[in-house]
Amino acid sequence: MKDFVTMQGLEEREMLALVQYANLISQKGVEPFANQTFAANLFFEPSTRTKMSFVVAQRRLGMEVLDFATDHSSITKGESIYDTARTFESIGANLIVIRHQQRNIAKQLAEQLQIPVINAGDGTGEHPTQSLLDLVTIYQEFEQFRGLKVVIAGDIKHSRVARSNAAALTTLGCDVFLTGMEEWHDNSLNLPYISMEEAVETADVLMLLRIQRERHQDQVTLDQDSYLQKYGLSVERERKMKKHAIILHPAPVNRGVEMDSRLVECDRSRIFKQMENGVAARMAIIKNILNQGGNYNEKNFNQRQAFIG
Ligand code: NCD
Repeated sequence: MKDFVTMQGLEEREMLALVQYANLISQKGVEPFANQTFAANLFFEPSTRTKMSFVVAQRRLGMEVLDFATDHSSITKGESIYDTARTFESIGANLIVIRHQQRNIAKQLAEQLQIPVINAGDGTGEHPTQSLLDLVTIYQEFEQFRGLKVVIAGDIKHSRVARSNAAALTTLGCDVFLTGMEEWHDNSLNLPYISMEEAVETADVLMLLRIQRERHQDQVTLDQDSYLQKYGLSVERERKMKKHAIILHPAPVNRGVEMDSRLVECDRSRIFKQMENGVAARMAIIKNILNQGGNYNEKNFNQRQAFIG
């Protein structure tokens, strides 16, 4: 694998191998790279968890992190994303991690650059590393995927997390259902919609999503309380969940909107576990890509030396 930009097209055994590798790293760690390697993190959209867990993952792997702040970069002078990424490749970056509002941008860059590209979220497109950490969290709970009933709930239409997970969970043999306000349905996903009442009774895994207001074309007027009562996870609904069922949410959580604030850290919530697993999942991806996919900027990779030439 040269890049990691989508969950679509990966085979079941490849996904399982990545999940198991990430799980192993979460338990036992992994050898850092012996040689000097550079990671460029290009975040054009706000991020706390994804960006910081990439940094922790990279530092744990012994990588040098080239931090990049859009408003202090030549982007402000009109430089294109391609030229920015190509610059990082030229100065010796071994890997680019990109989050950007434009759908498919990571895939495009992956085709244009020789160094690997990891998609850390492309608009409403995909968020494959979030999906991998979600899979790791599910695997730690159930040790397999086939036949598990997973319900993805909320703002499906604008969620890249929903898109990556719909693809991944289907490949892994889960029964995937969707639920949420009709305005936010996405029929291109080709998965059945059920009500939130059915969802809480059906799900082994209930995956809640944040309302992605920043991506809405038409602002739907929402009364927070009535959203929670109609479509969210209230305390009453949580009581109807199966005994072993777990709750996931990629966060940030709108407390009191998609879920009752009291449930964020309830017994069946794995929300902070997901964040913890995010580091191992990202380490697994980076290790996999740089070890097996070859390394274009070998110069940096092969010798920990302070000269260029
Ligand atoms: C998600 C994202 O940015 O797509 N967050 C994350 O990466 N943990 C989901 C969200 O913002 O709602």
